[in-house]
Amino acid sequence: MSDGPKTSRPTVLLSEEQIRRRVCELAAEIAGNHPETDELVCLGVLKGSVFFLVDLVRALPMPVAIDFVQTSSYGSASKPGEVSIKKDVDLSLAGRDVLVVEDVVDTGHTLARLLGLLRLREPRSLELCALLDKPDRREVEVTIDYLGFSIPDRFVVGYGLDHAEAYRNLPYIAVLEPDGAPR
Ligand code: PRP
Repeated sequence: MSDGPKTSRPTVLLSEEQIRRRVCELAAEIAGNHPETDELVCLGVLKGSVFFLVDLVRALPMPVAIDFVQTSSYGSASKPGEVSIKKDVDLSLAGRDVLVVEDVVDTGHTLARLLGLLRLREPRSLELCALLDKPDRREVEVTIDYLGFSIPDRFVVGYGLDHAEAYRNLPYIAVLEPDGAPR
């Protein structure tokens, strides 16, 4: 039997149980900061945040609305960190409590740009919840209001995170080694 990427046994960085527990804690933290809200608009950043978003909103006690936004990076050596909106939000955000839900903050360019654009829509509040942070990779400052885990600068996959679209459906987060297998 081949021992290629699909059959390798991954070494887990964050287990299903660790993620599940942290998601519940984050939901409690978010709820505690929004005791009066009539509705929280949870805005997932496609595609990586999808698994995190659906688990998080199911743990939130208040009414939620869900929407998605998708960005694309087209930075170059002379203009690093250029980010454009590939799919815009459908809902109106004006006067609403908005929570951006992201899988990972890396250089910070995506979130810095996106939060700047969303602020122009004049939400009542705008916060960021990120499952993962790679602080060693940061190039621009981003305030993460709710953070799941701070992790080292390793290539991680699973629970929404991909390598060339593979591995998103792993129920845990694993480190991808140079041979292409999650370890
Ligand atoms: C990832 C992640 C963030 C962005 C963070 O998305 O979901 O949106 O990169 O990187 P940055 O902090 O360096 O800007 P990716 O481009 O991998 O798309 P995906 O979620 O569809 O996999």
